[in-house]
Amino acid sequence: MENNPYHIPVLLHVATDALIQNKNGCYVDLTFGGGGHSKEILSKLDDGKLLAFDQDEDALKNSYADHRFNLVRQNFRHLQNVLNAYGYGSVDGVLADLGVSSYQFDTADRGFSFRFDAQLDMRMNSGASLSAYEVVNKYDEEEFLKILISYGEFRKGEAVKIFRKINEKRSQAPIKSTKDLCQTVSPLVPSRFENKFLAKLFQSIRIEVNNEMQALEELLCQLPDCVSQNGVVVFITYHSIEDRMVKNFFKSGNIEGNLSKDFYGKVIKPFEVLNKKPIVPSDDEISNNSRARSAKLRMAKRV
Ligand SMILES: C[S@@+](CC[C@H](N)C(=O)[O-])C[C@H]1O[C@@H](n2cnc3c(N)ncnc32)[C@H](O)[C@@H]1O
Repeated sequence: MENNPYHIPVLLHVATDALIQNKNGCYVDLTFGGGGHSKEILSKLDDGKLLAFDQDEDALKNSYADHRFNLVRQNFRHLQNVLNAYGYGSVDGVLADLGVSSYQFDTADRGFSFRFDAQLDMRMNSGASLSAYEVVNKYDEEEFLKILISYGEFRKGEAVKIFRKINEKRSQAPIKSTKDLCQTVSPLVPSRFENKFLAKLFQSIRIEVNNEMQALEELLCQLPDCVSQNGVVVFITYHSIEDRMVKNFFKSGNIEGNLSKDFYGKVIKPFEVLNKKPIVPSDDEISNNSRARSAKLRMAKRV
């Protein structure tokens, strides 16, 4: 499973070792993907249970028959409702390995990657109404600049130039494909940093299409009610915006990172941070799986 072509799980052992504190407990894998983390969790459980989520229909084909396991095709923003529907109440641990899978990136017609020519799509959930086509062709200047600056971390000047190029092109004819988009912005791409520039552009559109930051915020806010005392939550993030949200939430109980204190000056928060510095993959792991290179793992315990 560690070399599953669908997706090689990142930080597999450190994540699952930290998560499982009770072999007979109930656990959640919020991002099933190729099922690598789920499989490892099940191998560590005796009579425990595992509920897994993925919003991508294609991930369901990686499911397995195990009486201790259920996989639901749901956005993890519905965590609490799904737990209630399955009669779980609160659980002993939650794992999230955020972002997209290698399968999603490498399947040309999903439109996630600038390496292939495909329709502008980028939806993890193929039933969702918003696709990259609408974002690229319909968003106005304010909406476009917001996603380029917030999710792609472009400077304002660069973002304005990107929007102008796109707007100029789409006012003649819609931008339909990933290749079209790349050609549209090509005069702005710095020659030595072509991949970096396009990766940031595609990342910003993908985050918007999948409403990733909103889903993560909604999820984090449900965790205090979903995780039992001493239960562990483990998050693996791949870019600084989501890492900051997770870090702030673990530290303070809100995504802004505002600390509130009780009468005695003690910080009131639902989780205790278990690693102040994020855990990152070893050089060996990165050389075996380049997708691991930007991963950061943070964990916290429900108090
Ligand atoms: C990095 S992959 C997870 C890989 C997995 N840990 C493994 O070992 O194969 C992320 C997966 O989470 C799913 N996903 C991302 N955001 C989601 C959300 N808000 N709700 C449900 N699934 C989500 C994606 O569709 C993708 O399959």
